Amino acid sequence: MAKRIPPGVGPKFPQVVVLVGATGDLSRRKLLPGLFHLATAGFIPGCRIIGVSLDDLTPEAFRATAREALAQFYGRKVADEDWSAFADVLDYVPLAAGADALREAVARAETALVGETRRLHYLSVPPSAALSAVRLLGEAGLVEGSRVIMEKPFGTDLESAVALNAKLHAVFAEEQIFRIDHFLGKEAAQNILAFRFANGLFEPIWNRNFIDHVQIDVPETLGLGARAGFYEQTGAFRDMVVTHLFQILGFMAMEPPTALEPGPINEEKNKVFRGMLPIDAASVVRGQYIGYRQEEGVDPESDTETFIAMKCAIDNWRWAGVPFFLRTGKRLAEGQRVISIAFREPPKSMFPVGSGVGAQGPDHLTFDLADSSKLSLSFYGKRPGPGMRLDKLSMQFAMHETGLVGEVLEAYERLILDAMRGDRTLFTSAEGIERLWEVSKPLLETPPPVRLYAQGSWGPKSIHQLVAPHAWRLPFERSWRDPNKSGA
Ligand code: BG6
Repeated sequence: MAKRIPPGVGPKFPQVVVLVGATGDLSRRKLLPGLFHLATAGFIPGCRIIGVSLDDLTPEAFRATAREALAQFYGRKVADEDWSAFADVLDYVPLAAGADALREAVARAETALVGETRRLHYLSVPPSAALSAVRLLGEAGLVEGSRVIMEKPFGTDLESAVALNAKLHAVFAEEQIFRIDHFLGKEAAQNILAFRFANGLFEPIWNRNFIDHVQIDVPETLGLGARAGFYEQTGAFRDMVVTHLFQILGFMAMEPPTALEPGPINEEKNKVFRGMLPIDAASVVRGQYIGYRQEEGVDPESDTETFIAMKCAIDNWRWAGVPFFLRTGKRLAEGQRVISIAFREPPKSMFPVGSGVGAQGPDHLTFDLADSSKLSLSFYGKRPGPGMRLDKLSMQFAMHETGLVGEVLEAYERLILDAMRGDRTLFTSAEGIERLWEVSKPLLETPPPVRLYAQGSWGPKSIHQLVAPHAWRLPFERSWRDPNKSGA
């Protein structure tokens, strides 16, 4: 049951959440389990949740859907008393019931709460449906004093993003809109900021004088699941790169912000995006896994990419000339989320030929953005024994060694909590998103042809030419150290 949470961590006032798209994939996988966890852990006392979707359900049937979602996707055991407390705060309004029914449900929820309350609308629906949901919220008089979380994709190109933002701004002010990018809610992504700006050691070498190139690599073994309809329209670039990978790039490449606050952080991230050169289609490999066109719901002649690898450049004083290689795709050999920073090699080697210096690639700093995050710094060191033979060694940190893994909030949980508290630090801005669509224009206008790749591979063969003379860091030559094995 509810624990006592330190003051200032949860929202100041009890929340009424209107969850639009409440029976959809994201809601069942992440949002309902996330809200359940926040509620049972005591972060959001009093919170009431109103599900809304196209499905014609009774509140009772919606509770059953939520219970099933928890059984399937909540990683921990669901205690009976926690479930019955959660079930009590769930209500449901089918979309077809209209604005009046929604207004009444929100009023009911608010009267059940004592004192001041706040409203959070979570629009877990595609952009076209998001706009009708926004209109519905407007008609129901639920805009004033509320916050709204929007899900990607934020448009499909510059024009549609500008149009979408204009339509949103007709109803909600920019300060009310929380565009969610769940990669920024990952503990390990925020650790990039801590690592860079809470230490004096690394920032002085965080630039073109010391860094040779950067890789942001997010291969997935997953396929489409039940999302063929969404994916066919979206593809790997819009689904992953223009959102998650570019946002991570922003954290990795930005200048030190003047404060750990939304304004300064977004400003520095946006400066990185402004400094990005338009993506040259010749520096992009688009791929599609063999068998994709035979999947249910996929056009047999589909040109949608399920894989993308690209070289990007940031044309500013810190990064001029440093290539950033990005890669992501479905049904690849491994599921990983890695940022790998390759340092320049020493200018002259006094070590004799055959000593092994440089033989295992450059020194690397590697961030693993997995839920139990890891960090590694690799370097050459002397192999024990006679003579001077060098080996690649590493210093590694793994979150699970700290004993604090249980404290980690899942990315969506963290971000929902931040939105309830009105903290926009980890959310993206209209300006940043529009700029990212602007740099994507050449690629979207003349995309290179998709190349087929075998499922379980690392993508089409041409990915190697793309990074040459460098090499992809994945698959790792040496695996992460297993802290449970001594001497590893
Ligand atoms: C989502 C994409 O935003 O991120 C999915 O739509 C992708 O296609 C997912 O699988 C990856 O997120 P995570 O947190 O599982 O790495």
